[in-house]
Parts: sequence; C-alpha cells; structure tokens
Amino acid sequence: MNPDAFDDARSRIAAAYSPDSVRSLGTDLIERLSSHLAELQRREHSVLNWAPPADNLPVARETLNSQTELSQESLSERFQELIDLAIGRGHNLHHPRYIGHQVPASIPIAGLFDALGAITNQVMAIYEMGPWITSIERALVERWGAEIGLTPGTFDGLVTHGGSLANLTALLTARNTVFPESWQRGVFDGKQLPVLVAHADSHYCVTRSAGILGIGTENCLKAKLDQQRRIDPQALDEQLAQLRRDNRPILAVSAAACATPIGAFDQLNDIADVCRRHDVWMHVDAAHGGAVSMSKRHRHLIAGIERSDSFICDAHKMMFVPALCAFVFYREKAHRYAAFQQDAPYLFDPSTPGMAEIDSGVSTVECTKRAAVYGLWGVWSLFGTQIFSDLVDVTFEMTQIFNRKLEAAEDFVPLHQPQANIQVFQYLPSASYGLNDAEVGELNRRIRWKLIESGKFYIVQTHLDGRAALRTTLMNPLTTEDDLNELMDEVRTSAAALLKE
Ligand SMILES: Cc1ncc(COP(=O)(O)O)c(C=O)c1O
Repeated sequence: MNPDAFDDARSRIAAAYSPDSVRSLGTDLIERLSSHLAELQRREHSVLNWAPPADNLPVARETLNSQTELSQESLSERFQELIDLAIGRGHNLHHPRYIGHQVPASIPIAGLFDALGAITNQVMAIYEMGPWITSIERALVERWGAEIGLTPGTFDGLVTHGGSLANLTALLTARNTVFPESWQRGVFDGKQLPVLVAHADSHYCVTRSAGILGIGTENCLKAKLDQQRRIDPQALDEQLAQLRRDNRPILAVSAAACATPIGAFDQLNDIADVCRRHDVWMHVDAAHGGAVSMSKRHRHLIAGIERSDSFICDAHKMMFVPALCAFVFYREKAHRYAAFQQDAPYLFDPSTPGMAEIDSGVSTVECTKRAAVYGLWGVWSLFGTQIFSDLVDVTFEMTQIFNRKLEAAEDFVPLHQPQANIQVFQYLPSASYGLNDAEVGELNRRIRWKLIESGKFYIVQTHLDGRAALRTTLMNPLTTEDDLNELMDEVRTSAAALLKE
C-alpha cells in the first residue's frame, strides 16, 4: 500500500469512527424514534408496511450503492434517509393493533441498553472478554431461576440466541447425560436409536432438534393430548411404560408451558411424577410461558417446572425485551457442562480453573456471543420485577376480555378458552351464505390478507384440528378494548366485501 493510499484509508476510517458523528446522528435517531413511537401509540401509520419482496428487494439493493465519501452534512442526510427507509418499510410491532406473532412490542428503553451493548460491542465467551456482561448474565440466571422456584446454589443455566437454540442445547445436554458416550461416539454406534417423546403441539424446533441430534425426526414421538391440548399424563405413563417394555432408549420427554398453537400449559407436576416413575429426563419448553413466574396471578400455570431436569424461557417473548434473549435452566448445576464436552486450550485456561464456572463459552453453541441480556438487565434494574408481572397480567387479562367478546358475538367463534394471551377464532358468516367448513376456512384466510394489506391490523392465521382460523397474540400491553372491538368490525367489513365478490 503506498503512503498516500494508506493516509486516505486512515482518514476515511477516522470519519467512520468519529465520536462527533455518533453524537449528532444518535441525537437525530433518538428524536426520530421517539416521535415514531408516539405516532404509533396514537394509532397513526400502518401496522405492517406491506410490500412484496419484489418491491422491497430492489430498494434494499440500491441502498448498497452508497458513496464512499460524504461531508458531515451529506452523512446526516443519508443517515436520515436510511432511517426513514427502515422505519417506513418495517413492521410496526409497537402499534397497539399489532396482535400477531409471539414477538412483543418490546419495552423501548430496553433497546437503549441493547444499543449500549452494541455500540461498545460487549461480547462474551470467557469472562475476561466481557466481565460485566458475563456478570449480569450470571446474576439474571441466578435470580430468574430462583423466581421460578429452583433452589439457589443447586441449579445453573445460560443465555443463548433464541428459544430454538435453547431447546437444542437443553436436549443435547439430555442426550449427553442419558447416553454418556454419544458425544464422542455418536448416537448410532450399533445401538437402537433413542426416542424423544414430545408434546404433540410442540414448536417445530423440538422435532428439528431430534433431527440435529442424530436421533431422526421419525423418532420424535408425539405425546397424546387431552381435550385442552395438554399432554395427557395417564397416556404418557402408558406410552413410557410401553417404550420401556420394548427396550427403546428414551432421550427425554419434552413438555410445553405453553404450547404454540393455543397457548395450552401442560400439567407439569403430573408429568414430573410420570417422568420420575420411568426415570426419564423431563424437559419443558417454556419459551412463551416462563415469564408467568413473575405474576402472582398466573405462576400456578407452571407449577412443577422446578422439578424438570431442564427448561427454557425466552425473555424476548413475555418479558418484553428485544430479541434474542433466551434462557436455559438446569435443575442440577453440573448439567451446565454436559452439552459440550470439549477443550479449547487457547480459550479455557487450566491455570484459572475457577473461571470455567463463569465462562459462557463452555455451555453454549456460540463461541463469541453478543450481550443478549443488556435489555433485560436494564429494565429489571430500573423497574424491578413488578413490570414483568404487570405485562403478563395485562396481556392475559385483555385476552380473556377478547374471548368474552368473541363468545358474545353471533358471527365469531373462539376455538378454545385461553390460558395465556393467545386466542384462535373464526369468523362465521350467517348460515344464509351456506358455506361449508373448508369455505369458512378459506374466507378467514382471505380476511386476514385483507386486514394485512389494509395496514389496519396485523394478526396471523393458523390451522386447528384441520380448520383454517385466525390467531391473535396480545403482545402489546397498550392494546385496548376499543382496538379489539375495531378488529372485530374490520373483520366483518372485510368479510362482507369478500362475500360480495
Ligand atoms: C413454544 C415455543 N418454543 C420455541 C419457540 C422458538 O423460539 P425462537 O423463535 O426464539 O427460536 C417458539 C416461538 O414462537 C415457541 O412458541
């Protein structure tokens, strides 16, 4: 590199690293975001700024053709342009009429803490790479585990990038503990493949884990459900007894608290009894429902979770912090080291053995891991646990209110009694239209598209017992009864237009 080119490169780098730019662009960004959030709370703008990929992709590609050198003024203009694009084409989860997926209108202040972690690039693998972020992560594992009912000092846990990876990590730990040679020798090794017995409505990541762990998705067996779509403990007992009689190795039972389709909570104490009777590892996917531990009103829904061998909770669902921030808990402390029985001498220094207790990399898929808990830590430390209880209580209560409205309306039918903040329902046009079940399902699907394209609401669609239906998850604590009334009216208006076509 010639000296002039080197100097030019250095001066461009200096511009990109300018603390003054952080100040001026950061101030603009915060100003813009705060106005945007206020507008959304006033129900301005579309919920989803819907545009098909054919519209978005060319614009996204064009943004990459940026100039290499910008004056301070043009940098600021370009920055504003990019922010406008991101906001104008994004999904407005903070709109009170976003009632869609299990992803929350996150507490905005949590994002400020995440920005702190991102701008200063706090990462972890071993303690010395991120002493503070490692410490707050450990403190949160200890504290949340104790809130859930685990005995302080006897359990352990970790944080990872999402519920799917959390379930995989916990089930890998189960596999390595139940079949201790599997890590080195693999699960095949001339023996019969183990089975994983999972809630029949498990999130797809549980079956996917069976595929990744080498036992095969066909060996992920469904546990029978009762009328309320919870694992039937008696049927589970019989299923495990039969598997034992057949000499089938059992990796684990994977229960749900709650399961994705309708938010049904398994009866965890009964399942723990069954698992203990058959000496089977009990795992609970509490990605959505783990946060009920914070609510006096609803914590009974996960009673017995503290008896499972492992369970997971997503803070980026019902703790209302930005994605991704998922926790894995092990009832027995030693299990934290069972997932990855590996040496990385350049990282894990044998002269400081005590550090392995706190190093994150020994227990996670990730080596370098982002500061995933900054948002949760910030909110918890500012507002205490009450805010988490309030968020669960309000969103669960609003779902009960919605359920009662659907029950009371002649042209709607709720397809279950909600235990959580998930409600599946159908719009049923009057009998005079003479639609069969499949046509009602098709109508509901088309209603949803109309709603989404209108930008007025965002809800999702699902299938329940072969019926296409509408599904809402109350993930914004600012959604009001009026919003729900208007949702029902909007469904009616869309249906009327569709039925006229
Ligand atoms: C019960 C359950 N488990 C796991 C997951 C997957 O979590 P993530 O999207 O964080 O990977 C979900 C997602 O909605 C879920 O509902």
